[in-house]
Order: sequence, then structure tokens, then C-alpha cells
Amino acid sequence: MEITLAQALSRRRTVRAFAEQAIPQRTLKQLIWAAQGTTGENGERTAPSAHALYPLRLFVLASRVSGLDSGLYAVEPAGLDLKITGRADLRPDLCKAAIGNPEWIADAACIIVICGDMATPAQAFAEQRPYGARGERYVYLEAGAVAQNIQLQAVAEELGSVLVGGFSDEATADVLGLAAPLVPLALMCVGYADVEI
Ligand SMILES: Cc1cc2nc3c(=O)[nH]c(=O)nc-3n(C[C@H](O)[C@H](O)[C@H](O)COP(=O)(O)O)c2cc1C
Repeated sequence: MEITLAQALSRRRTVRAFAEQAIPQRTLKQLIWAAQGTTGENGERTAPSAHALYPLRLFVLASRVSGLDSGLYAVEPAGLDLKITGRADLRPDLCKAAIGNPEWIADAACIIVICGDMATPAQAFAEQRPYGARGERYVYLEAGAVAQNIQLQAVAEELGSVLVGGFSDEATADVLGLAAPLVPLALMCVGYADVEI
């Protein structure tokens, strides 16, 4: 069933209880497209980016995605292809790295991890006030736009989601094998809702 943007906005709610049902791989691809899909001839994307630097990187922790092995995947920025980086079940350690050990991290069908390259924008906007902070601020703004895109696309796909931003940066980066300048910014936990939305 197609819904309008206004309907998606009205129905967007944080969901923290997920059903066992797997999500189709096609649906995961659609969420990733909503996050960072290329939509313009000059590489423009679904979400805006300051100076079109595109400093965000996505990873997917797949647990119940039909047709996709469980594991951690890096999303290739150009074609949005998924490249497996490990098959270990990282959910327990990711839960521990988050504030309050939230069980929705373990229960989600998949988690789209929004990460930012904090160095490139910091350098590019070094001459703009507040010196040293402007580039970083832009990365956070961009991550917010991407998070909203994912949540709205999730609604359109009849899925629920929660943006988890409360976690130890260091412990989360460690679990996911991220190295500087990449920093984890948001964990978008997605799945079929186990509650009335
Ligand atoms: C920046 C940010 C960080 C958040 N971090 C968490 C989090 O760590 N854990 C969580 O359960 N929800 C988190 N949320 C979800 C909020 O709690 C939720 O959006 C809020 O309660 C409003 O509910 P709604 O999204 O249904 O409108 C976060 C939301 C935002 C925007």
C-alpha cells in the first residue's frame, strides 16, 4: 500500500519491540537507498550534504533479513552494495556498549549504523566559525537527515524503528571494528513492530 509523505510523517513513531519475522532483503535495500541513494547526475543523494562532501558511511548488522547471511556488512558508498565484513553475532556486545543495555538492539531484524568521517569536514570547514567545530556540526546535521529518511521509509515499508544515539562511542566503534576518522553516530534498529503503532 503506497502512502503519502504526510501520512508517513504522521505515522512515524519510535518502536522498541520487534516481531520475530524477517524483513525482505529488498526492503533493507530500500531503507539504504532512502538513507544515501544517488538521485542526481552529479552524485547528489537522497539526503543533503554540506559542500557535497558526503562524509557519512553506513554499516548493516543483519540478523533476520531474508536471503542475507547474518553478519556485519559495509555499505559501498557508490552503488550501495553490501560487503560482508564479519559473521559473528555482535548484538550482545553492541547492547553492552549502549546506555542501559537496550534489548531492542538485540531484537531488531537489522541495524543500520550511521557513521561519520569527522576529519574530512573538519578540514574542509576549518576557516569557518566556530573554528574547529563547524565541520563536525555539519556531520551531525547530515546524520539527522539520514536517520529521518530511514524512519520515514521504514513507515512506508510498514516497519518500526528506533534511533539509538545513547552509546559509548569507543566501545561501539570497537565492536564494529571502526577506525578513526570514522565515528558511530546512530544505530537505526529496524524490524516489524510487535506493538500497535
Ligand atoms: C538524537 C536522538 C537520540 C536518541 N537516542 C535514543 C536511545 O539511545 N535509545 C532509545 O531508545 N531512543 C532514542 N531516541 C528516540 C527518542 O527517545 C524518541 O524519538 C522520543 O521519545 C520521541 O518519540 P517518537 O520518536 O516516537 O516521536 C533518540 C532520538 C534522537 C532524535
